[in-house]
Amino acid sequence: MKDSSRRGFMGKAFGAVAGVGAVGSLYAMKKSWDPLPSVKAAGFTTLDMSQYTTPNKVIVEGWRGKPIFVMKLTPEMVAKTKAADNKYAKKDQNRLIEVAGEHFMVCIGLCTHLGCIPAYRPDKEDFLCACHGGKYDFSGMVTKSPPPRGFDIPPFKIVGKTLVLGEKGPEYEKMLADHATL
Ligand code: FES
Repeated sequence: MKDSSRRGFMGKAFGAVAGVGAVGSLYAMKKSWDPLPSVKAAGFTTLDMSQYTTPNKVIVEGWRGKPIFVMKLTPEMVAKTKAADNKYAKKDQNRLIEVAGEHFMVCIGLCTHLGCIPAYRPDKEDFLCACHGGKYDFSGMVTKSPPPRGFDIPPFKIVGKTLVLGEKGPEYEKMLADHATL
């Protein structure tokens, strides 16, 4: 083989190898962009609601890296959401989640003003955001600005005694239709 034709052959061979390498690299990159199966599964959080036995106490769970406030309501709290003198009653009622005969508030625990984490005050049955003084009642409805709206409610689906966060069930769709959450 002449030098020039050998160079041509070598060039094509390198080109072919480089081409295969490039495809392989692209495939590897594509694989690294795809979410791992465990990450996909992490999009859902399943809560067994029968574990929340103490009313008027906020338990902080997690969903997609966000704090989730879960609180079982007392029968008196549920009655307050229906009281005629409660100006927030209708909105409060629309925000409650009923699972196996018990009522819960389940919200993303971030202030809708600038994202601080408000603290629950069991004696006052409300949330106070220390950053700028915003307040929310026990259903997560805003009662004092500057927060522009109540706590956001994560997508959820009721399955028996469990709540699956990250799935949209009919109860959540109704909340959206009632403008109880964004
Ligand atoms: S961040 Fe909560 S009131 Fe401003």
